[in-house]
Amino acid sequence: MEFNPVKLINKKKTGENLTEDELKFFIGSYLDNKIPEYQMSALLMAIYFKGMKIEEIQTLTQIYIESGKRITFPNFATVDKHSTGGVGDKISIVLAPIVAACGGKIPMISGRGLGHTGGTLDKLESIPGFRTDFSEAQFKKMVDEVGFSIICQSQELVPADKRIYALRDVTGTVESLPLITASIMSKKIAEGAKNLIIDLKVGSGAFMKNLENAQKLAELLIATGEKFGQKVSVVFSNMNSPLGNYIGNALEIKECIEYLQDKRLSDIHELTNTLAVEMLYLTGNTVNRKEATSLVEKVLQNGKALECFRKSISAQGGDPRVCDDTTLLPQSKYEIPIIAGSSGWIKSIDSQKIGYALVELGAGRKALDSKLDYGTGAYLPFKIGDKIEKGCELGKIYCNNKHTGIAVADQVNNFYLFSDKKINSQKIILKVINYKISPAQKS
Ligand code: URA
Repeated sequence: MEFNPVKLINKKKTGENLTEDELKFFIGSYLDNKIPEYQMSALLMAIYFKGMKIEEIQTLTQIYIESGKRITFPNFATVDKHSTGGVGDKISIVLAPIVAACGGKIPMISGRGLGHTGGTLDKLESIPGFRTDFSEAQFKKMVDEVGFSIICQSQELVPADKRIYALRDVTGTVESLPLITASIMSKKIAEGAKNLIIDLKVGSGAFMKNLENAQKLAELLIATGEKFGQKVSVVFSNMNSPLGNYIGNALEIKECIEYLQDKRLSDIHELTNTLAVEMLYLTGNTVNRKEATSLVEKVLQNGKALECFRKSISAQGGDPRVCDDTTLLPQSKYEIPIIAGSSGWIKSIDSQKIGYALVELGAGRKALDSKLDYGTGAYLPFKIGDKIEKGCELGKIYCNNKHTGIAVADQVNNFYLFSDKKINSQKIILKVINYKISPAQKS
């Protein structure tokens, strides 16, 4: 059916709903290059300001999914996790092998870092030889045989989102709840995940700055999952402090390997455990959450989770010896200490600015084709509520250019604010919305 694009832009601009035919026409014509970028941008901006009803969001999700291939796993229940992105967020890299070692099957299509947050694919590609571009058949084989696989989005999977997301990135329309919902859910449904757990980051280092907005996004994600027969649970996690102790691609892989060797850090463990338990329970791998908790504990202690990670590295072309010797990962030439300029309790950390500062070292990208310097990054072990003395080491910068490293160390120092009154430490898990499994679904 043919429509006038200007009329449709005006319709949304005045807050009316777009019908399925209208949305199909607009997105389809854009993908066929019959609607230009400027009209698509105008529609995105109208959606940004006027929003969409849940039915429109679900229709948009459907149109996104139908723009490409849909992967299916008919022989087993699959589960995936999606994070809305944070600083030092390496959770997928430890979570997937843990859940797989407990019997879960995880088909994970992941992203690269852009802006202040790092990307799971970039972190994994810092392992010598590790590849993330695989065919659908190879991806399915790895999920079946290893238990999980983490790969990049191919041209065939949700091409509509791929193109529209890139346009949103340069038109100031990323932070729109309807557009975020259709973008995330279309990919997670098309990749074949029957169950999904969302790690919704909230705080200064996340793009959802408060729990109220995050709650609205969670409701849209859950309702859209339900419409497509996908069970969705949401964990709201704190992103006011960077996650774990390290930020940077190879540094985070080292931290993940150490965690899988059962050297635990409280924030990483609490979040990973919460997500893993929910994933195992959602898929029916365990009868209750208590059993899931013991299973997670067991695979960390007996080395099965690390073994699963080793298998996945081999399957994806990487050097599995990094699991025993992390010095085989890319290293940096210099370590620059960050010396605290004040005493007191840490009251805030600007994680977003830390993320951007580390991009200067090559730990993240300034443009899509930027080359990463895998060994660079930072060691930042202190969190909000920790007490620091002036002159002590607040952390370290890892760099290959000493001059830039010293400048970044100075900047990072300024992103910590101190109080002379005691500040309480913060919870990592803020809230959980568990999918309610009915007795009929369990049997
Ligand atoms: N992640 C996505 O995949 N899409 C968005 O729109 C935002 C975060």
